[in-house]
Amino acid sequence: MQFPQYRPRRLRRNENFRRLVRETQLSVNDFIYPLFVVTGKKVKKPIPSMPGIFQLSVDNIVGEAARAKELGIPGVILFGIPEKKDEMASQALIDDGIIQTAVREIKAKVPDILVITDVCICEYTSHGHCGIIENGEVANDTTLEVLSEMAISHARAGADMVAPSAMMDGQVGALRDGLDEAGFESVPIMGYSAKFASSFYGPFREAAESAPAFGDRKSYQMDPANCDEAIREITLDVQEGADIIMVKPALPYLDIIRRAKEEFDLPLAAYNVSGEFAMIKAASQLGWLDGERAMMEVLTAIKRAGADIIITYFAPEAAEVLRRG
Ligand code: PBG
Repeated sequence: MQFPQYRPRRLRRNENFRRLVRETQLSVNDFIYPLFVVTGKKVKKPIPSMPGIFQLSVDNIVGEAARAKELGIPGVILFGIPEKKDEMASQALIDDGIIQTAVREIKAKVPDILVITDVCICEYTSHGHCGIIENGEVANDTTLEVLSEMAISHARAGADMVAPSAMMDGQVGALRDGLDEAGFESVPIMGYSAKFASSFYGPFREAAESAPAFGDRKSYQMDPANCDEAIREITLDVQEGADIIMVKPALPYLDIIRRAKEEFDLPLAAYNVSGEFAMIKAASQLGWLDGERAMMEVLTAIKRAGADIIITYFAPEAAEVLRRG
């Protein structure tokens, strides 16, 4: 293939040629839409750093899930903000907790959308860490028991899938054992397999009120510099029984997504996180870039890198663009 015999521009001459040779097709089927649930009634509180995203009370969550379903989005993932936080994250485990209630309501009123729950205690602990603190450190194995109990309680409420995101060693195995023992062997696990200690979670922590009160998450989330270690983390999740694996964040980690796609044959999710959403929204509000084009380009890039599933706050907006064609 050589110029002038081969001229790549020939197949770029009009949109029909471009459609014919397009390698990556973004689809609404790829999306999972994250939602933030709070206590109270008729709450719709804007999250300043995430324009268009709100903290919603259960009554309003049902409406938002219905809108997602109407747009053809296959699933939502829920994050809960409880009324009270304590050292032991006790509100995470109760049957009438915020997530358990939201799951039951969505399943009752919008039955035909997948309800996935995030299994992590950072929104429920007074210190904001993703695990139980013992002797000033996040205690891995004690936390596993809590996470497992939390997942069972979500399954009992009717969750279609659970997604452990605490980055504790052995969390997928602990959840699988717990769920199986409780009779939930058909509930799948989407592991946050390679989750990095990222600055791009900033807006989420505002939305979920989950910033750590001391220290940081670097003793459990991964060092952004590491790729081989991401492969080891994902391998563990696969061995422990994950049904879907994940890389998070997405955009600064496209190389990890590509490598995971090549090395594993499980469905691969990528989390297009809050900071990735916020930076496009902010630049677009300033008139510095075309927000809609940037959104579609980023989502396409994440899919092109190898993601089968994209968890994104853009899900409804992108679904509308795709519907328009
Ligand atoms: C909970 C959790 C976080 C996110 C998803 N689950 C925050 C964190 O680890 O601090 C981040 C999602 C986002 O930024 O959109 N552990």
